[in-house]
Amino acid sequence: MYNLLKGKRGIIFGALDSKSIAWKVAERAHEEGAKFVLTNAPVALRLGTISELAEKTGSQVIPADATSIMDLEHLVDETVKILGGKIDFVLHSIGMSVNVRRGNPYTHQDYNFTKTGWDVSALSFHRMMSVLYNKDVMNEWGSIVGLTYMAAQRVFPDYNDMADNKAYLESVARSFGYFFGRDRNVRVNTISQSPTPTTAGSGVKGFDGFMAYAEKMSPLGNATALECADYTITLFSDLTKKVTLQNLFHDGGFSNMGVSTAVMEAFMKGIDSSEEVTEDPEKKSKK
Ligand SMILES: NC(=O)c1ccc[n+]([C@@H]2O[C@H](COP(=O)([O-])OP(=O)(O)OC[C@H]3O[C@@H](n4cnc5c(N)ncnc54)[C@H](O)[C@@H]3O)[C@@H](O)[C@H]2O)c1
Repeated sequence: MYNLLKGKRGIIFGALDSKSIAWKVAERAHEEGAKFVLTNAPVALRLGTISELAEKTGSQVIPADATSIMDLEHLVDETVKILGGKIDFVLHSIGMSVNVRRGNPYTHQDYNFTKTGWDVSALSFHRMMSVLYNKDVMNEWGSIVGLTYMAAQRVFPDYNDMADNKAYLESVARSFGYFFGRDRNVRVNTISQSPTPTTAGSGVKGFDGFMAYAEKMSPLGNATALECADYTITLFSDLTKKVTLQNLFHDGGFSNMGVSTAVMEAFMKGIDSSEEVTEDPEKKSKK
């Protein structure tokens, strides 16, 4: 390893189990010499396996519901005490849609669920940054990263209200990133990651097809959780000091593709083997 985070202190939100992107980031940050606190919602701490990660990385776990200012203030105060100084990096790796969980399609949302999903997945990024900013606990040249998905820019019907939450999250990165940059020399970015088989990812309807399609479309193939962690480490390191207010695609090239030969071949095979050109099944059922 390269000691890229030697002497740095951080907070990592969102490690639920060993599949979580945040889990891989914690393992890599540990390998690169960082000290950090792990945090997750109290219920996730009961259901997940975060204590294994804490033991492996010599970290403490502090529960915090990302929708509670009080929890976040407590988390930040405790982190500064435990790690013995200001914070250099923070990962926001949090996402949850109640509409997706309950199978409500985008056109038939329960707006109370919509509000909860937005609060957890998007507003929490603002809330977390406002606590860090108002307590003035970020070190100069620190780095804050949030995780997002390309449904913020393009239509993926089953990503549902999470698409809107991600658009909000990316906007908050730019808006808060301005103040953090101007006043503290701290950078704020989002990483737009490939579909990844985690608890949150697999909850999206048709996830396997979605992943297989992205794999065929991307010239470099889908980025794994570990590869996402590697990229995140570069953003926490001093090698990326002037990168801020960006939404950075980490997706094997998917976001700039129109079509690939692999997808065209699969599509043409489908046409050859069917009697008629396959129509959108939802449209067909209306006839
Ligand atoms: N998996 C994918 O395909 C994919 C692709 C692009 C972006 N992302 C994003 O990556 C991030 C991490 O997700 P993941 O795929 O590792 O799945 P994951 O299920 O392992 O992580 C999601 C985390 O959010 C936490 N969380 C939920 N409600 C919370 C709350 N109220 N307070 C604090 N934490 C809460 C969960 O406990 C969990 O640890 C999310 O923002 C997700 O949208 C995932």
